[in-house]
Amino acid sequence: MKKHITVAIDGNAASGKGTLAKKLAEYFNYAYLDTGKLYRASAFLIKEKNVDYEDVQEVINIIKEYNFYDFNFKDNLLKSDEIGKLASLISGYKELRQILLTYQRKFAYKHHHDKFGVILDGRDIGTVVLPDANIKFFVTASLEARTERRWKELISLGQSTIKRHVEKDIRDRDKRDSNRKNSPLIASQDAILIDTTKLEANAVFLLAQKHIEEYLLT
Ligand code: DC
Repeated sequence: MKKHITVAIDGNAASGKGTLAKKLAEYFNYAYLDTGKLYRASAFLIKEKNVDYEDVQEVINIIKEYNFYDFNFKDNLLKSDEIGKLASLISGYKELRQILLTYQRKFAYKHHHDKFGVILDGRDIGTVVLPDANIKFFVTASLEARTERRWKELISLGQSTIKRHVEKDIRDRDKRDSNRKNSPLIASQDAILIDTTKLEANAVFLLAQKHIEEYLLT
């Protein structure tokens, strides 16, 4: 029988963690949750309801009442830089993180029919959400490489944007995500570090695949 495993992937904005997670989930037949989408969906709801993001209590009231199982996570609007920035701004709120933590753990521990494991990607998966994950990856890349990727992605989504603005947004987001008090972006001590600056997506996948296969043989 195949081992059922949990894989945690963390990394900064546009590091390639999402692409890696998707490829691994498909190859190994694991259930996958992009946890950034929960934060982006929260940002989307706040914007839709015209709530001031600095009004912490009102933000929490809205998120607490919402059933995220009803949300259309495929909505391309979630991918905009505006929503990404707002998600980053509210992601420092402890109570919000607590609500979303419940969703993430439920997903990780529930039975997924026909799946051999689960993969979650985000900022604090290996440190807070799934500290006991069987395999942890921490994905990084240079600011320049990440700007280039994010810029191309936004263009392909039809969102006109200036590279300089994309770079500033990523730099600001790195700073906020890494320096916040609650669950900052840091590599778990037992995480495998992958620098994707000079690697194609497939090379990154092959590297991570090897680590998982080695684990499965133990
Ligand atoms: O991965 P992403 O760009 O979709 O995430 C958007 C924001 O959500 C990110 O800047 C910080 C927040 N986030 C978080 O704080 N913790 C996570 N596990 C995932 C995302």
